[in-house]
Amino acid sequence: MQTNTRMPFIAGNWKMNTTINEAKKLVADLRPALDKIAGVEKAVCPPFISLSGVKEILEGSTIKTGAQNLYFEEKGAYTGEISPLMLSGLCEYVIIGHSERRQYFKETGDIVNKKIKAALRVGLKPILCVGEKLEENEAGKTAQVVVNQLNEAFAGIKEVNGLVIAYEPIWAIGTGRAATGKQSNETIGLIRKTVTSLVDKDTANHMRILYGGSVTAENIAEFINQPEIDGGLVGGASLKIDQFIGIVQRTSEIKGIRQ
Ligand code: 13P
Repeated sequence: MQTNTRMPFIAGNWKMNTTINEAKKLVADLRPALDKIAGVEKAVCPPFISLSGVKEILEGSTIKTGAQNLYFEEKGAYTGEISPLMLSGLCEYVIIGHSERRQYFKETGDIVNKKIKAALRVGLKPILCVGEKLEENEAGKTAQVVVNQLNEAFAGIKEVNGLVIAYEPIWAIGTGRAATGKQSNETIGLIRKTVTSLVDKDTANHMRILYGGSVTAENIAEFINQPEIDGGLVGGASLKIDQFIGIVQRTSEIKGIRQ
């Protein structure tokens, strides 16, 4: 495996938190410390309306930005939606298929697939989220659920343009009950194997696959120490300055790539 060639990646998913002013303050407070930490790619994903203000504050910074969603059409009569074209140039990443969108907004595998294709068309890098529910986990169906989500997400896709996958077991999101490093390493290994068969081996070996679900500065080491896990998609702890900096710092110490 080419583990050491994959740049570790920590992304903060702010979800539906922060006003425009709060978002600007948060990123201004994060910037000085995060810019000093080398060997890890970092990104923040604020709400759409704060992307522009956050981008201005990050001018010249090593911190990248991502959106939390997009619609798959380029433009037109889709009241309230944000298109890939609107995001292109404003951010580098876009989270697609988060379990909260699948659950509350009824996003199906087909919609996720269309959104990935739409993002790739304009050069945005998707952060594709997959993960099983508690009852699926308890019924021993994790592998089946995750492989099925990947089959749907990658249908008709052969070029991935830096796409990142986040394995987020739904029962671990916002619950304070993180998965274990060993469990998530196994599932992430399976995800990499599945990407090998759906796309190709080289793509799978170079793809960053993250763990997400109750990640903190205290438990990030457990995940980062695993060979298949390349970083974290962080929710709640990404809104706390010391926590997010701590997560990036630990990741750099354990797996940072020295150039
Ligand atoms: P928490 O870190 O708050 O559990 O959220 C994880 C998540 O959903 C990131 O996308």
